[in-house]
Amino acid sequence: MVEVLVTGGAGFIGSNFVRYALAAHPDWRVTTLDKLTYAGRRDSLRDVINHERHAFVHGDILDAALSGPLVERSNIVVHFAAETHVDRSIMAAGEFIRTDVEGTFVLLEGARRAPGLQRFVQISTDEVYGSVAAGASRETDELRPRNPYSASKAGADRLAYSYWATYNLPVIVTRASNNYGPYQFPEKVIPLFVTNAIDDLPVPLYGDGRNVRDWLHVLDHCRAIDLLIDAASNGEVYNIGGGNEVMNVDLTHRILEALGKPASLITPVPDRPGHDRRYCLDTAKLRSLGWSPRIAFDEGLRETVDWYRANEWWWRPIKEQDPRFKSYYEAQYHTRQ
Ligand code: NAD
Ligand code: DAU
Repeated sequence: MVEVLVTGGAGFIGSNFVRYALAAHPDWRVTTLDKLTYAGRRDSLRDVINHERHAFVHGDILDAALSGPLVERSNIVVHFAAETHVDRSIMAAGEFIRTDVEGTFVLLEGARRAPGLQRFVQISTDEVYGSVAAGASRETDELRPRNPYSASKAGADRLAYSYWATYNLPVIVTRASNNYGPYQFPEKVIPLFVTNAIDDLPVPLYGDGRNVRDWLHVLDHCRAIDLLIDAASNGEVYNIGGGNEVMNVDLTHRILEALGKPASLITPVPDRPGHDRRYCLDTAKLRSLGWSPRIAFDEGLRETVDWYRANEWWWRPIKEQDPRFKSYYEAQYHTRQ
């Protein structure tokens, strides 16, 4: 059996990856290590948590006594665990530095002691390139992160790379664009707007709404990671982008149309400080290995909207019962100037 450690496997992309990996690889035994922060939900793994080839470990990647041995016995590590929300990093950056940078350091130290390690996948982000005025970011471009989240991810990205260059660890780095799909925490724009609109609540659009994101379906992301585990070269960086550049205001209209809700729900709110205008990835390197996205954005968005409509059991407890969500929402949307 191939021993696979997935950190952050109770989060959005991690839980989709665990589900995908168990189905795609009958010879993989998957261990999820997750701290279950406000963003981590056992519910996101509900259908696979007791799978015979899955083990769930509740714990912190920063706890070297716990995470070290899990890494040491692994053949593959896919490291998703992170603090991930830009707006929260602007409010308070400390947890981002600790988890995203120091947490990655702890795992990499474990990887140095792992005799059977074949791959360490450092999940980075397109945000490390910073805002892209024109053209598309290539893997060799300079990193210009502009908010505490993306700066912490850039630190981890380069730290992981350094463990390949220095210790010859089998590290690869992936930089994906904005993911969407089921089980995304409802602070991120698509699930926030969908779930607000379902309840006829305002959808708070930042600034002039003309910022651009490149949307990637989470399952296309999972397929890309899977391919790279097999086909990538150590020490290399790979962009993973959906090729769907959409302005936020257009995205918002599409969501409201899919739900049959009026445009009057759109409420302009003060912009995110330092808000990156546009991200865009050149994905030629990944495509040359045989990957291309399979899910068209219109279809994927419709299915995603339908998923949130059909799975209120998953998001209503977060929005309506978790005091951490309420206090974040209040601070971000009501008391912030
Ligand atoms: P998420 O916030 O939904 O999930 C993060 C998970 O990590 C949660 O389950 C949380 O409990 C866990 N976690 C946090 N701190 C931890 C710690 N100290 N120890 C163990 N577990 C911890 O995030 P996501 O959107 O699924 O993102 C996953 C990864 O992908 C992140 O590294 C993120 O930077 C990267 N990424 C995300 C996107 C996107 O659009 N969502 C795009 C590119 C890259
Ligand atoms: O690009 C990859 C990144 O995508 C990941 O690395 C991050 O982990 C992930 O959170 C995401 O970052 P963004 O900041 O792009 O995602 P978010 O969903 O927060 O915002 C998407 C866009 O929508 C952005 O331009 C800000 C805007 N927005 C967001 C929220 C939450 C709004 O207009 N209103 C909102 O309420």
